[in-house]
Amino acid sequence: MLKDVFIGLSQNRLLTAAAKKYGLKLGAQTVVAGTNIEETIKSIRSLNAQGISATVDNLGEFVFEREAALEAKTNIMDMIEAIHKNGVDAHISLKPTQLGLDIDYGFCLENLKEIVALAHNYHMHINIDMEDYGHVQPSYDLLNELSKDYDNIGTVIQAYFFRAMDDLQEHKDLRLRIVKGAYKEPADVAYQTREEIDENFIKLIEYHLLNGKFTSIATHDHNIINHVEAFIKEHDISYDKFEFQMLYGFRKELQRELADKGYNFCTYVPFGDDWYAYFMRRLAERPQNLNLVFKQVFTK
Ligand code: FDA
Repeated sequence: MLKDVFIGLSQNRLLTAAAKKYGLKLGAQTVVAGTNIEETIKSIRSLNAQGISATVDNLGEFVFEREAALEAKTNIMDMIEAIHKNGVDAHISLKPTQLGLDIDYGFCLENLKEIVALAHNYHMHINIDMEDYGHVQPSYDLLNELSKDYDNIGTVIQAYFFRAMDDLQEHKDLRLRIVKGAYKEPADVAYQTREEIDENFIKLIEYHLLNGKFTSIATHDHNIINHVEAFIKEHDISYDKFEFQMLYGFRKELQRELADKGYNFCTYVPFGDDWYAYFMRRLAERPQNLNLVFKQVFTK
């Protein structure tokens, strides 16, 4: 299947390194906000002007060298300073494997602590993105450790996992982003069909809207969004308890439409030169996204 081909490509280390070297190509610039902080702040300003906030991700994951993890930490801290200095409406999303989770748990925790402490000074939220199944439990361990000292953190619940509802209930007092799940996972830990995943996705969203702190509903799926809009109305859920999220460059009209309706809307803004795995996962989710690539390549 095309999905498996793109997931396979996303994990290819040689291609990842080559992509980094040769800059944003293959249409990736439509879904990546910038290669540096300056360009990215400009993109955030233009979202903010449309009433949309941003969660900013320094692209990169599955880092195996300490030096690269420390460089990622510096990039993220520089972005936090830039968000604060420029007064834009944005916070941070980050991936534990980019900050050394595969190198050493304690090293990763220390890197995260520095980032979360800096953001805490500026009352800025940090979202710990969730990666593939092997990294889920260690990521919750990091989150639980950090939650002892900081209240400016939250994470992601991936609806395709059987464990998702337990994780959601355990962390209901946090700000949570709920998604379908982006990685290829085996049938002993994850639902495999679209129907099962959608059903669990809705269950999780409804539970957290009714019982949780703050819900980020992260999807491009209009059927899910329509369902959520009806549910919110029916249960009279206050608009300050949730937001919709989508990825930068996708369904831009729908993003604006939801923001114009008065909902909180937050766009996930990836930046940096390590765009390749992120971009391949987007193609795996929706091969029609290739249209974006063709348009970009052929309409120059
Ligand atoms: P899905 O791809 O299932 O599409 C459902 C339907 O919606 C399609 O059949 C089509 O009708 C419509 N549709 C979708 N995209 C469209 C488009 N571009 N144009 C027109 N119609 C479209 N995953 C993860 O594992 N860990 C994480 O931390 C995150 N974080 C994250 C943040 C944010 C802000 C988002 C939006 C997503 C993530 N994800 C993620 C990815 C997530 O798990 C999931 O893989 C993708 O969002 C794809 O699923 P969707 O729910 O968007 O719709």
